[in-house]
Amino acid sequence: MTPLSVNGKPVSVDADADTPLLWVLRDFLEMTGTKFGCGMALCGACTVHVDGRPMRSCTTPLSAVTGRRITTIEGIGNFKTGRAVQEAWVAENVPQCGYCQSGQVMSATALLAANKDPSDAQIDAAMTGNICRCATYPRIRAAIKRAAKKLA
Ligand code: FES
Ligand code: FES
Repeated sequence: MTPLSVNGKPVSVDADADTPLLWVLRDFLEMTGTKFGCGMALCGACTVHVDGRPMRSCTTPLSAVTGRRITTIEGIGNFKTGRAVQEAWVAENVPQCGYCQSGQVMSATALLAANKDPSDAQIDAAMTGNICRCATYPRIRAAIKRAAKKLA
């Protein structure tokens, strides 16, 4: 059994050390908010935080996160910044199909945790690895600005 900390709770999983964190979350812990898109660290749908930093869970093996603090979309609202981002997402009506949005919220929260007042260029740079096939990018940018204002 491998001990993990997920959203502030200790859990143990009986999975091989090379199992991607995404499958540990979805299949072993039944936390399906984190999505599978490409499986190759190219789309951002699977983004979670590890020790507060955004990481692609599809290419992160279980062995790399043992003893580290994992936060998923199910837990990000417990943090002031994550809550503000989620509220801004609702206010700006960001999602279309919604599939990419867990990853978008996780990347946006990491951005605002590191930079309280990002410029358009900084937003674009931080969010560039999160692909949205529905092209919600203008609303994502507006929601990040709204959250930044609320947190100021
Ligand atoms: S599923 Fe991980 S980056 Fe696309
Ligand atoms: S909202 Fe559909 S892929 Fe982003």
